Amino acid sequence: MKNAFVIGHPIAHSKSPLIHGSWLDELGIDGSYSAIDVAPENLAAFIDRVRQGEFVGGNVTIPHKEAVMGLLDEVDPLARTIGAVNTIVSETGRLIGRNTDYLGFLANLDQGAPGWSDISGAAIVIGAGGAARAVLAGLIDRGIDRIHLLNRTLSRAESLAAAFAPSVVPGALEDFNAVAPAATLLVNTSSVGMGGTQFPDFDLARLDGRAVVTDIVYAPLITPLLADASAKGFSTVDGLGMLLHQAVPGFEAWFGVRPEVDAALRARVLAAT
Ligand code: ATR
Repeated sequence: MKNAFVIGHPIAHSKSPLIHGSWLDELGIDGSYSAIDVAPENLAAFIDRVRQGEFVGGNVTIPHKEAVMGLLDEVDPLARTIGAVNTIVSETGRLIGRNTDYLGFLANLDQGAPGWSDISGAAIVIGAGGAARAVLAGLIDRGIDRIHLLNRTLSRAESLAAAFAPSVVPGALEDFNAVAPAATLLVNTSSVGMGGTQFPDFDLARLDGRAVVTDIVYAPLITPLLADASAKGFSTVDGLGMLLHQAVPGFEAWFGVRPEVDAALRARVLAAT
């Protein structure tokens, strides 16, 4: 039997056991996926257990996504650029770290707004935390040549932009209305929207009329930002799909079958959110 895990501290809130457990059942795979609470001081010992073959791999969440990088045998270049590992694959004891958040972000947009990257225009990314790093990597990968990175704390946007590419232009949240007219994509990666909070001064009507608006927050599923965008006639993509799609590459690497992100899975995870 193949065993996989998600480690974090705390870990009780993780939706990953539900996602992977559903796929294991549906596909009839002899495998397990368990949530394991690992405190920071026990991370190295846990990784040793993985290296010894107890697991085929697993997911890594807060607070271990950065710290685990130093304990693995290899970290793929993209995960290194993003600065975080969320997926470990054990290849006969050799531990490889990957970051599948950026793949999840892109797959969710591809499914929810097909052709989005063919609409020429700039992107606006709100937030400068770990999620923003994965989103920036994804957008750069798709050739988006101008990205306005807006953050409440301007200095964080500036240092993140400097670490990425000259096409990433830092700004403050107050710059939104000025940069909006050229933007055909708006991505919220900040925690604004969780529990229904909202941005005070964004005039979404200023966005390019073809703009797609997406939020990585998925609780609530329709954040105030998405509700406003959809009321103004923009295409919107909610954040639940990113969570589901980021799980696909790990499952495929551990269990050898590529699982589907379908409506039944969405409904099951949504009901548990
Ligand atoms: P993550 O790794 O999930 O991206 P994070 O590193 O804590 O999380 O980043 C959260 C992001 O949400 C940051 O960009 C943060 O802005 P600051 O850099 O100014 O802290 C942003 N954020 C959180 N609460 C916010 C609020 N009330 N208004 C605007 N931005 C907010």
